[in-house]
This record gives sequence, C-alpha cells and structure tokens, in this order.
Amino acid sequence: MVTATPARSMTEEADFLKINSIDHIHWWVGNAKQAMYYWWKGFGFQPVAYSGLETGNRQFASYVLESGKIRFVISAPYKPSSEMSAHQMLHGDGVKYVTLGVDDVEAAYRETTARGAVGVWTAREERDEYGVIRTSAIRTYGEVIHIFVDRSEYDGAFMPGYKPLELPHEPAGLAAVDHIVGNVELGKMNYWVNFYHQVMGFRQLLSFDDKDISTEYSALMSKVMQNGNGRVKLPINEPAEGKKKSQIEEYLDYYMTPGVQHIAMACKDILFTVRELKARGIEFLRVPESYYDVLPERLQNIHIKEDLEEIKELGILVDYDDEGYLLQIFSRPLQDRPTAFIEVIERHGSQGFGKGNFKALFEALELEQEKRGNL
Ligand code: FE2
Repeated sequence: MVTATPARSMTEEADFLKINSIDHIHWWVGNAKQAMYYWWKGFGFQPVAYSGLETGNRQFASYVLESGKIRFVISAPYKPSSEMSAHQMLHGDGVKYVTLGVDDVEAAYRETTARGAVGVWTAREERDEYGVIRTSAIRTYGEVIHIFVDRSEYDGAFMPGYKPLELPHEPAGLAAVDHIVGNVELGKMNYWVNFYHQVMGFRQLLSFDDKDISTEYSALMSKVMQNGNGRVKLPINEPAEGKKKSQIEEYLDYYMTPGVQHIAMACKDILFTVRELKARGIEFLRVPESYYDVLPERLQNIHIKEDLEEIKELGILVDYDDEGYLLQIFSRPLQDRPTAFIEVIERHGSQGFGKGNFKALFEALELEQEKRGNL
C-alpha cells in the first residue's frame, strides 16, 4: 500500500544540509558531440558552454545544455586510459554526478561525512576571470557522486575551463527537474533510504511496495526521499520478487551497478512538450489502448483541464490523489543499453508519482523487455 509518512515538519537542526537547487546532472557518455545533439535537437535544450581540446582540456570533451532550470553536462573521454573511459566501458552512457547547490560546500562535506558519507573530495576552489566556483563531493549508490557546489561568486558560462556556446535552439518546454530515481540492488533500498535520511537529512515522502506495483512479471519497491525544503526528490527503487525478471534487474544487468534510472522533468504544457518531442523523434512507451477505455470512468470525480482525446492520442498517462492530478509519460531508454530513461511530468496539485499508472505502465515495459529477450 501507499503510505504517506506524516508530514513531520523538519526543524532547522534536522535540515543541516541546506540544498538550494539541483545545480546540474552530469552524464558520462561515449560520444558527447552526438549526445549533445540529441538533447539539443531532440529535447530542445540550449547548448550554453563547451570544454575540450580547443579550450585546453585534453582529457575530455564536455557540453553544457540548459532547458528552463534544468542543466545537463555531457562529457566523453578522448583517450582510453581514464576513469571516464573505464566508466563508459562498464556502464555505457549514464549519470555520474548529481550536483546540488549549497551555500557552504565545506559545511556540506563536514556534516555529511560526519554522519557517515564517504568523501570524494574536500572543499576546493576553481578560479578564472569570472570568479570562483567552490565544490566538495561525496559518494552515493553505485558509482554516482553528489557534488556540492557554490557558484554564488561566479558569473562565467559554467565553470572554469568552459567557454560559452551560442547555438540557436527551439525550446520544447522542459522546465525543471522534478525527481531523480536511483535503482539499487535487491535488499539495499532501506540502506540507501537511511543514507539519505541520516547522512543528508532527507525524509521519506512516500513508499510503494510490491502489492502496489507488481504485474504478473515485473515488480519493484520504491521509497521517495525528499530534502528539507522539498526542492530535491530522490526516489530509490529495488527489485522485488516476480515471476520473471523485473525491470530493475534488467537495468542492473546492463548498467552493471546501481545507478540513475530516470530523470523526471516538469513542464507547464505537457501536450505541447510531448507533441514537440515526438515530432523530433523522441520515443515514448505506449500503454495498451484499454488504458484509455477506462480512463473517463477513473477520472469521473476530477476535473482535468486538458482534452482527454489529445491525452490519448499522445499516449500521456493521468493519475490523481486528494491534492489534484498529474500527467506523465515515459521515454524508451536513451541509449542502446536498456538503462536510463526520462519522464515528462506536469503536476496539477498532485505530489504523487503516478501510482495509479504503475500497472499499465509496467505491462507496457514488460512488452518491451520481452522484445529485448530480457523477461
Ligand atoms: Fe518518476
């Protein structure tokens, strides 16, 4: 069942890690130039900065792209002997850094490592003529790292070593990161839930167990962790026992370790955004037609401002709770390995995660898994 944890108000003391924002998500990929093109042309991101051979960076090529408040960094190594190339060999394309904006990177490092985080680097500064960027970093699940960043005294394109890029772009309306989901190994969900609670001061917003989200084959358990001010939501999934291989196991089999499963991006007009993305070649999961046969009945007590015919045509999913409704859709995997994907979400009051869609969605996922020979 879905358990809404009583909304404990977080005291100043408990929220010791004051996160201002998700500053950026940094992908390590095999071909940054082509991945940049995908986010630029496919998802309507604006390329804003570049680092590479031309800027004196002889290790890797790196592009920074933005859409609304979302910032992605896409990097690929030039040579085979580097941590980045080893990462690529093991995982394929994936998220390496989830970077969180804070006021004091030294305090963020001190407070989290004192509570048990494994440090990656202590507070450091990088400077150029545009100012100073301060960072520190800790490990989280798999090979993912949380960087803490303070860019309050920096007004360059991204950070030292990057030059501005100005390319014309056509926005698709993706506005902000709603949540970032991590897949961890069987039996490890609660370990990482405790990590986010104890080490980073997050609290549990919701939990879903296998009764909510199992179909005949695929099952998972999930807990949604949220930081003190509610700006950062990081659900953690683990596989649950099913008849056949769960979607989380398939991810772990191809990513080889725990890692980021999906990034949900919020928008203000999902009909426009999904229409745009589809026109640009982005592929989404399609739930069975029967989902839409029963939708009007499911929604009879709630007013949906969007046209249901258009929702059906685009394959958008609808869910609601006491606070309102949400519209969401999930992409196919972003790379050849069936690993990371994205979600587009528009919230109208509901702070849920689409529980009412899980069954239809998982059945659609299983059809795809079957086609890949991974069920
Ligand atoms: Fe999601």
